[in-house]
Amino acid sequence: MSERKATNITWHEGHVTRQDRERRLGQRGVTVWLTGLSGSGKSTIAVAAEGALHARGRHAYVLDGDNVRHGLNSNLGFSPEARTENIRRIGEVAKLFTDAGVIALTSFISPYRADRDAVRAIMEPGDFVEVLVDASVETCESRDVKGLYAKARAGEIPEFTGVSAPYEAPEKPELVLDTNAESVEESVGTLIGYLEEKGYLGSE
Ligand code: ADX
Repeated sequence: MSERKATNITWHEGHVTRQDRERRLGQRGVTVWLTGLSGSGKSTIAVAAEGALHARGRHAYVLDGDNVRHGLNSNLGFSPEARTENIRRIGEVAKLFTDAGVIALTSFISPYRADRDAVRAIMEPGDFVEVLVDASVETCESRDVKGLYAKARAGEIPEFTGVSAPYEAPEKPELVLDTNAESVEESVGTLIGYLEEKGYLGSE
């Protein structure tokens, strides 16, 4: 792989605009960026929200950490630098989905505030909805769906978020879903209610 940056490349504008696509789809493109600890409920909420939106005739698509790390980001680990690159790439992909008029639901721990802010910075205003999926380490650890907290405590997974690597919660997220206390249905209801209220879902 060449490490040299490409030169002599120009940006091509298409003839079909984002507005054309959004009018066709009857919705606004947006990136709903779910951030939170492993086991906080990000993927569950993203998948349930995708289903609910689909049922309403809306076009949504989930980008999920575990899945994207099998493909696009299969060459990345969990060092701070690798996580930064993980989030940078997903941010770019989510931006393309948003430009396509899709409701992109991203589900990545994205533990570093600067990385999430960098994604927000490449998006148009209003295109980035940051959602803190808020569950304490204790809650996530008691669920331990994938058995990873136990492994992390046993020292088998280095740099595990919440155990031996940091998580920086957003200071001003658009939305907080407290999954310590609320059900998946309640969280999804709040999320979809927000998108509706802000006009992302168009008219029925
Ligand atoms: S991120 O920090 O770079 O945003 P991402 O969301 O892509 O992480 O992947 C997190 C998933 O990878 C977790 O849900 C878990 O299944 C798995 N994982 C494996 N090793 C680690 C680790 N050291 N820290 C956190 N998650 C890990």
